[in-house]
Amino acid sequence: MGSYSTVYQRSLSAPEGFWLDAAGMVDWDEAPTRALDDTRVPFYRWFPDGVLNTCFNALDRHVRDGHGEQTALIWDSAMTGMVARWTYRELLERVAVFAGALREQGVDKGDRVVIYMPMIPEAVIAMLACARIGAVHSVVFGGFAPKELAARIDDAHPSLIVAASCGLEPNRVVEYKPIVDEALRLSSHQPKAVVVLQRDRHQAELGARDVDWNAATARAEPADCLPVRATDPLYILYTSGTTGRPKGVVRDNGGHAVSLCWSLANVYGIGPGEVFWTASDVGWVVGHSYIVYAPLLSGATTVMYEGKPVGTPDAGAFWRVVADHRVKALFTAPTAFRAIKRMDPDARKLAEHDTSSLQTLFLAGERLDPETHKWAVDTLGVPVIDHWWQTETGWPVCANLRGLEPMPVKAGSPTVPVPGYDLAVLDTSGRPLPPGQDGALCIRLPLPPGTLPTLWGDDERFRESYLSQYPGYYATGDNGYIDSDGYVFVMGRNDDVINVAGHRLSTGSMEAVLAAHPAVAECAVIGVYDTLKGQVPRGFVVLKSGVEIDRATLRDELVAAVREQIGPVAAFRDVDVVDGLPKTRSGKILRKPMREIADRGDTTVPSTIEDPEVLDRLRPTLRADHPGS
Ligand code: COA
Ligand code: AMP
Repeated sequence: MGSYSTVYQRSLSAPEGFWLDAAGMVDWDEAPTRALDDTRVPFYRWFPDGVLNTCFNALDRHVRDGHGEQTALIWDSAMTGMVARWTYRELLERVAVFAGALREQGVDKGDRVVIYMPMIPEAVIAMLACARIGAVHSVVFGGFAPKELAARIDDAHPSLIVAASCGLEPNRVVEYKPIVDEALRLSSHQPKAVVVLQRDRHQAELGARDVDWNAATARAEPADCLPVRATDPLYILYTSGTTGRPKGVVRDNGGHAVSLCWSLANVYGIGPGEVFWTASDVGWVVGHSYIVYAPLLSGATTVMYEGKPVGTPDAGAFWRVVADHRVKALFTAPTAFRAIKRMDPDARKLAEHDTSSLQTLFLAGERLDPETHKWAVDTLGVPVIDHWWQTETGWPVCANLRGLEPMPVKAGSPTVPVPGYDLAVLDTSGRPLPPGQDGALCIRLPLPPGTLPTLWGDDERFRESYLSQYPGYYATGDNGYIDSDGYVFVMGRNDDVINVAGHRLSTGSMEAVLAAHPAVAECAVIGVYDTLKGQVPRGFVVLKSGVEIDRATLRDELVAAVREQIGPVAAFRDVDVVDGLPKTRSGKILRKPMREIADRGDTTVPSTIEDPEVLDRLRPTLRADHPGS
């Protein structure tokens, strides 16, 4: 390990100089003189005296520097058959006008704007327009139901909502406007207005507080960039935690811009003018960072794809997009490749397209199983790079840094810690574990720039959720180990968060839905192995005594309730009625052993942990996981 080792060591031993140097990749209105502010530990802030505008860095500076005619965004919609290209100049013009429209709607610096939109360029325009005037956007993924949207509205208190009339799924048109209306009926907070972009496929009915996007922009004056402090919030992105209440991950302006510019060059090896395609959704962190901000901040060309990897029209959908737009690097979740492999195991569709531009495939968002890794390598013949990170960090924690020093790949490992991240594996009492031993993956504080400074409006929850268990460290929620070569292996979550087709979900929120059914006495939801989605949720319910209900009816009601209250993205389809749930003596449900039994295909779940046969089956796990039980 040559340059990686030098750069990594410097990032930890001299972070001040390291990050001030990296800050040179960004245009500042007032350049920072200090990198780290540690006056309010454990709430660290980066570039405390820096002033900048993120939208200026993503658009205006490229136009100023003579790159206005370069393509900034390619929108490719397999759902409509449309392709549109936007130069930096065109995108800037549209963003400045929409920023003016936001101002006319009364949106000021620091106000929140909830964006509930599918994969269309207007979602990017709305995000950048917020950044331009110092407003804070909060994008909500379209697969969430009204109740989840309402929970985010009630936490963020937006002064405005920006929505589209519909999203397009292969099997249906998803009408967004009724979802927004229902969310606003459920929420206590009420925004001043809802701006609605009407799509051709479905026109929404507008009510008294709704404003048509075109009408709002037709009368708006373009707005200039408002310089903000590096530490001011750029966005809030809600993610699933252990409980049903989503966590509002806050992202600042300065650290975010610096870390994304640094990572696109050093991790992904992408420079100005190169084509980068992240096949995810703007509603997730992967979309925020690598569809929108990193490519545009770096002057690259980003591809925004509306569609699925398969069936749109066939298993060659991804290869067609790579070929049509001469994509240099593709980033997606392993589940997308499992879907392609399932439909076209011999990759016959690949031969129909010229994918010679593709140099690297990056995969993240969930565990990359060795079989999928091997298939992708054999099929594409390019390096397939697993990397590990999460909504909270905003950019990779572990990666094989293709722009800095490519390293040999070890299947099952996202390679090494990225500069800035001081990674440790800790045992339950917080002691560092030697190489090869599995424990909690933690990052020594301070976290690097671009990571979450806190949770929206809730410093205490931030401290309690991430910093209290291992003082001096941030707990990632993942378990894993580091081998003797320094390669990191991520083995899975150590909490009740599950990952379904690369989508992060809380089993706690699904349990709350099941528990509310009048026939259910208690319940548990666990994530079980799935060959396509990696994990899917599976519910177990115990009926109230004396309740007579047809099991198929109950199942249908519970599945419908989860879909209605959390959303189709939960992919909740399996529920079993059981006599009891296995628990510790203190009454805690033993989810991990349940998961193991369910993964083995058993349909019955043992009722109590006192059952000697069950204890026998579970003893090894119990000893490792619950030393006291
Ligand atoms: N708006 C409304 N509904 C949505 C939605 C959206 N933005 N996104 C998904 N849904 C719905 C789907 O239509 C589906 O509904 P259904 O039950 O009526 O069929 C449900 O939510 C589950 O969607 P999904 O998890 O996407 O499953 P799928 O079977 O439609 O597709 C994959 C499976 C693997 C092809 C798909 O998940 C995929 O392409 N994943 C790529 C990975 C990715 O984007 N990860 C994000 C983080 S990197
Ligand atoms: P999200 O916040 O939605 O990005 O989900 C983050 C979680 O996804 C992590 O905490 C991990 O559990 C999982 N994850 C992401 N990338 C990987 C990876 N490369 N390998 C294993 N798990 C991953």
